[in-house]
Amino acid sequence: MRILITAGPTREAIDPVRFLSNRSSGKMGYCLARVAARRGHGVTLVSGPVALRPPEGVTFVPVTSALEMLAAVKRHLPRCDALIMAAAVADWRPRNVSPQKLKKATASRVLCLVPTPDILASLRSKKGRRIFIGFAAETERLLAEAHRKLRDKNLDLIVANDVSRRDAGFEVDTNRVTLVDASGRVQALPLMTKMKVAARILDWLEACGLSARVLQRSAE
Ligand code: PMT
Repeated sequence: MRILITAGPTREAIDPVRFLSNRSSGKMGYCLARVAARRGHGVTLVSGPVALRPPEGVTFVPVTSALEMLAAVKRHLPRCDALIMAAAVADWRPRNVSPQKLKKATASRVLCLVPTPDILASLRSKKGRRIFIGFAAETERLLAEAHRKLRDKNLDLIVANDVSRRDAGFEVDTNRVTLVDASGRVQALPLMTKMKVAARILDWLEACGLSARVLQRSAE
């Protein structure tokens, strides 16, 4: 398969030296890219700024902001069979970016924020037969939110992680996820390394890709 994977945070500039971002280290997305490439898939990795080296054998596309990530995903999607959005895209950006460094002399400052585009939701019309996998990073109502995002973003699978846990979600090498697919199947996985979580997600994707091909052949 040709798989497009996003990883890491986005940075939304406030001025030339400051930005809004989040705690994503890129580990989960890079593990997915590494496992997929080792299994022989063609991998394009669109990554926000992280301190990791891209895995061998992947096409690497570095980006900074949510708007840049959206443009990169739109550019590479037509050549891909599947999209896995492991990136933690910032949900807001400052409405105005100051061309000069803001002075701290101002007693207080109010930042006016506008929403960034929802990358997955905005690709709905371009999905076709592609398989879309998203993540849900939650601190409460994990499964309810995962089901809502699966539906709203028109996904085939959502990987729900409780990011309030110390051993899961952002920055750590382990994760505890629940896979929820579009047919309603819910599979809670135990705590495991992000490499093993990536392998389970790739197992699901490969099985899904295989059954799609079998269905296509029997319809021909
Ligand atoms: O990078 P690590 O430190 O290893 O941490 C891993 C992780 C916690 C970042 C990862 O496991 C994870 O949960 N990634 C998704 C984070 C996130 O943004 O979740 P969300 O519930 O806010 O978004 C739901 C889905 O929509 C995600 O697939 C996200 O990529 C996508 N999204 C979100 C916002 C946006 N503007 N556009 C999007 O496409």
